[in-house]
Amino acid sequence: MSIVPTSPSASDFWSPRIEALQPYVPGEQPQIDNLVKLNTNENPYPPSPAVADAIQIAAAHGLERYPDPESVALRDAIAAHAGLVRAQVFVGNGSDEVLAHAFFAFFQQIEPLLIPDVTYSFYRVYARLYGIDCAQVPVDGGLRVDIDALVERATAGCAGMVVANPNAPTGIGLPISEVERLLRACPHRVVLIDEAYVDFGGESALPLIDRYPNLLVVQTLSKSRSLAGLRVGFACGQAHLIDALQRVKNSFNSYPIDRLASAGAIAALEDDAWFIRTRDAIVDAREGLCLQLEDLGFEVLPSQANFVFARHPAHDAAALFAALRARAVLVRHFDAPRIAQYLRISIGTRQQCTALVDALAAIVG
Ligand SMILES: Cc1ncc(COP(=O)(O)O)c(C=O)c1O
Repeated sequence: MSIVPTSPSASDFWSPRIEALQPYVPGEQPQIDNLVKLNTNENPYPPSPAVADAIQIAAAHGLERYPDPESVALRDAIAAHAGLVRAQVFVGNGSDEVLAHAFFAFFQQIEPLLIPDVTYSFYRVYARLYGIDCAQVPVDGGLRVDIDALVERATAGCAGMVVANPNAPTGIGLPISEVERLLRACPHRVVLIDEAYVDFGGESALPLIDRYPNLLVVQTLSKSRSLAGLRVGFACGQAHLIDALQRVKNSFNSYPIDRLASAGAIAALEDDAWFIRTRDAIVDAREGLCLQLEDLGFEVLPSQANFVFARHPAHDAAALFAALRARAVLVRHFDAPRIAQYLRISIGTRQQCTALVDALAAIVG
């Protein structure tokens, strides 16, 4: 009897844990003409013109060489911007990579990691990737991070905490006094504060770094510096935390920041006038958009970010999302517990916000 070899299926080649992964699903990047794209919290304005100049110069010299594995120039620029020293700064290929390394470096412990149940969904993806048990602490009825509940859970023991401030996708910010309560509740574990959106009105925990050896602050140049396409994020904390991140990074990829990204990021950090002008335009547009959405009957959560989270009591959010998409206006809808009736709307230019409001008026009006 001859044995007919069966052809292998794709998953035969996979390591056993791959099947159980539930990868993050990023917002769509469709190629549609005249699309009003308000779905991934990108900055609607281009980066400082100094960025393209710096990249052009960097591109003309030295691309045949590896970049500096220590990213000294970029870390120095971030340290100067944050009032820290180089040893307190870690850089990565977008803050997503920085977060991934932090999960690996700090949260693989016996006890569970604490995160709010409504937050950036990539945290659950990293936890699953690294086999980290993750306890999701419910946000309160107003979708605010419940500090009392997190503090209470932390006293029973935890692997650490990850809190986005302002939170995503709600946009709600925490005062620094509340962040300090988390830091004090968890003195022997890392409290990671993800400040991806802090420049749009949040209160940064960076000034607390010298006082709290357990504080790691993660920021990105993707949002307020208009550099989502360049992929530069960073973490700030005391040197012992940065050392751990460097150890993980140097066990994974020695050169996460290429020469062009480094040059462009430094130029963006140095152009504060551009940063302030574009940031202020976004904050102004956000305030105007909130009022217009409320006029249309939406309930809008208070936002300190470059997006708003809103629901309409009389219209299903998935249906609104589809009707907007049919009008070439793209926002984000999460089919997830507690937030399925909300839309997350990134703040665009004034013209984009007007196009959104006009489309919504036609749909709900
Ligand atoms: C809360 C939060 N953290 C981190 C990121 C990742 O940003 P990036 O990898 O572009 O730096 C995002 C992106 O949307 C985010 O919403």
